[in-house]
Amino acid sequence: LNYRVPRTRKEIFETLVKGLQRLEYRGYDSAGIAVDGPSKTTSDQNNNSICLIKKTGKVKALDEELYKKDSLNLDEELCTHFGIAHTRWATHGEPSALNSHPQRSDKDNEFVVIHNGIITNYKELKKYLINKGYEFESETDTEVIPKLIKYIYDNRENDSITFSKLVERVIKQLEGAFALVFKSRHFPGEAVATRRGSPMVIGVRSEHELLTEHIPVQYNSDLLHDRKKNTRNRADSSSNINSVGDGRAVEFYFASDASAIIEHTNKVLYMEDDDIAVVTGGKLSIHRMNRQAGEDPVRAIMTLQMELQQIMKGNFDAFMQKEIFEQPESVVNTMRGRICFDTKKGVVLGGLKDHLKEIKRCRRLIMIGCGTSFHAAVATRQILEELTELPVMVELASDFLDRITPVFRDDVCFFISQSGETADTLMALRYCKDRGALTVGVTNTVGSSICRETDCGVHINAGPEIGVASTKAYTSQFVSLIMFGLMMSEDRLSLQKRREEIINSLKMLPELIKKVLSLDEKIKAIANELYQQRSLLVMGRGFNYATCLEGALKIKEITYMHSEGILAGELKHGPLALVDKHMPVIMIIMRDACYTKCQNALQQVTARSGRPIIICCQDDTELTKNAYQTIELPQTVDCLQGILSVIPLQLMSFHLAVLRGYDVDFPRNLAKSVTVE
Ligand code: G6P
Repeated sequence: LNYRVPRTRKEIFETLVKGLQRLEYRGYDSAGIAVDGPSKTTSDQNNNSICLIKKTGKVKALDEELYKKDSLNLDEELCTHFGIAHTRWATHGEPSALNSHPQRSDKDNEFVVIHNGIITNYKELKKYLINKGYEFESETDTEVIPKLIKYIYDNRENDSITFSKLVERVIKQLEGAFALVFKSRHFPGEAVATRRGSPMVIGVRSEHELLTEHIPVQYNSDLLHDRKKNTRNRADSSSNINSVGDGRAVEFYFASDASAIIEHTNKVLYMEDDDIAVVTGGKLSIHRMNRQAGEDPVRAIMTLQMELQQIMKGNFDAFMQKEIFEQPESVVNTMRGRICFDTKKGVVLGGLKDHLKEIKRCRRLIMIGCGTSFHAAVATRQILEELTELPVMVELASDFLDRITPVFRDDVCFFISQSGETADTLMALRYCKDRGALTVGVTNTVGSSICRETDCGVHINAGPEIGVASTKAYTSQFVSLIMFGLMMSEDRLSLQKRREEIINSLKMLPELIKKVLSLDEKIKAIANELYQQRSLLVMGRGFNYATCLEGALKIKEITYMHSEGILAGELKHGPLALVDKHMPVIMIIMRDACYTKCQNALQQVTARSGRPIIICCQDDTELTKNAYQTIELPQTVDCLQGILSVIPLQLMSFHLAVLRGYDVDFPRNLAKSVTVE
């Protein structure tokens, strides 16, 4: 919103589009914008129209579209203007103009909303609103929000209801995670934003900064206090003395990430859950949704010192590192709305439930993928065999096709792919479809080819992954496949105890991941000892064999060291010949059914003067005696231990690559999405 200093509509577009481009690294399957429509005429005072422009593809496509709108005068100067824009990474509904944001309340765009997050109870809300006669046009979870605010507005008790009160009533009905910005024809020039679980930052640009870059910014107060009481009508907000602005701040920016606004201002404040921020009449004020008596929080205005590039990566040096550290949240996003952790202990994967009967009747499950996605299949094969009591084959897509593998109508074939575009996996999908098998997609990319071409599927909801070496997508694929196993075994009496143990452990998983991440310094120190080596072996078996394959792949991909994941049971059949006092060996030995057998492998390594680095459970003194180094992890149920044991290897590969001086996010010769066979 711009006060006092007029801006042309063209400048407003440029600001919004530039902001979106800065956020594109978070997702880019479609984008949209909402701005005030053609200017009001004196003859029609109610003509506060809102113009919506949406486009699939990257932000650039939206940018081009903006200039095609003849009805909008680009040179028109506007003193107060509030525009919203969004770049989408689909979670519900394929990428399309209709599914992109802003989502709207109705054809007249009375209320428009942009949303970052997931609304988990959207189905119930949608049903309710459809019953009330509201028509939906998209497949998104977000669309319930503008419809709901219009419903509340249409049924308001009196005309003095404020925009922020309406928003407050809406978010009381929402479950899930959200950062939202609302715009409405009924409240021209007024912005309302709120969040719960998803980030939101507000940038404030002062008049001084705008007119001359040299005068330091001074606010009436460095701190923004809560309102003393909730706003009852719009006049209240102007009497709010604890707001920022008072005519001195001239532009406000709301964004889910500071990278979108840093080129305009480095003065920002971070909203907290259930904060409701309102900008009207040149002033910003924030109030709490459910303020407790005596609670008087403040939101400090901070000056960001960071470079743009740094902000996009947070405090991390690389996207891969950021993505490794995001895993406590990404696994929660994978499970959100799907697992009931209370006494019912139920698991529902919405995209599979209509096909469950058919899946239960199948002859076998075939899991197909490439690279890391294949490893997620290897990691969960044993527990899937146990929970589904079906034979489970795991297949590398290219090899599966090379073998012209027999596939039948009563097979169920899973296609696991972060991007949903990998050519080998896609070819294997078409091959299985031609033979009449039921096809299931497990992808991180809604609307991708694999998503569209499978009969049903699971979105892993890990959020965009930028680093070529996959990390958080692996753990989310792992969790998704475990959830599938749990769903399949819901009515198996003999498996209830096992299921409960797994569900309870899934609940604890984010905390345990955080504990593993806290070992980063120790892992860095070990990497420091290893980074000049030419080769690195990773050994384990059972539930942790996949960790060896995945760990070795990470090391190969980004450090260019030779690395092999070795099944400890195969050690004496060949790989032992590689072991001597010079060869670094990482051994994964967790307290599970393979513990004793892994100890035998350890003996074989130490007997050849090998100096093993052991990844083991906390306080395993028996093992620490024989180890050159240990990385001790918290213990969880055997079938989930692989999620924890892979993280030290993700971190290790990252540190090795940095120490060797390589570009972690863009390793040589590799691509994030391999769309050729
Ligand atoms: C490429 C990437 C790997 C990825 C594999 C499968 O090789 O470099 O990191 O694991 O493709 O990709 P997908 O998108 O199908 O999971």
